[in-house]
Amino acid sequence: MRNRALQEFLDAARIAYSARARDPNSVSLLEQVFATLESPAPQSQSDSGRLPVCKYLTDIANPSVSDEPDLRQVMTTFFSIEPTLRWRRRQGDCSGASEGFAENHANAMIVGPGGLEPREGVWLGVSLLGPNVQYPNHRHPPQETYLVMNTGDFRQGRNEWVHVAKGETFYNPHNIPHAMRSNDLPLLVFWVLKE
Ligand SMILES: [Fe+2]
Repeated sequence: MRNRALQEFLDAARIAYSARARDPNSVSLLEQVFATLESPAPQSQSDSGRLPVCKYLTDIANPSVSDEPDLRQVMTTFFSIEPTLRWRRRQGDCSGASEGFAENHANAMIVGPGGLEPREGVWLGVSLLGPNVQYPNHRHPPQETYLVMNTGDFRQGRNEWVHVAKGETFYNPHNIPHAMRSNDLPLLVFWVLKE
């Protein structure tokens, strides 16, 4: 059986993602991911903990930040599981990152390797950037869809930055180089990946 708080978060994420995805590739990815997640995998008992950048979660947790019901439900259920997450810094290449990146970002896996529900093939996690932080260019074999909980800029390859508003999604095909950056506010973004 899956932990109830985790199930409620996944239900909320499914509703918000499904309602908001526009790219047909995103729609297909999300259908496959959430269909897979209908079958729980064993939960992990691993330790939890925040990093200093997580101080920004206090602002993000303000209900006024999420004035749309589906987003508010994502945030409410996220903050129920957040104390059980292990926030980590990115491992590996950080080329293209802004100065101070290491201290001003954190990632947490919710479902996937090292997450609350460790499993292969399907990942769902979250990234937090402090204000005016650029996440490094990176790429990975799985395709990915972000759900942006406030606003940020996203880029693929050498393309122009794309401004993505709160509640919008952004799709990255398999292996495409991509980056993101926050503006004057912290950025919280969920990501779903599938190989
Ligand atoms: Fe990515």
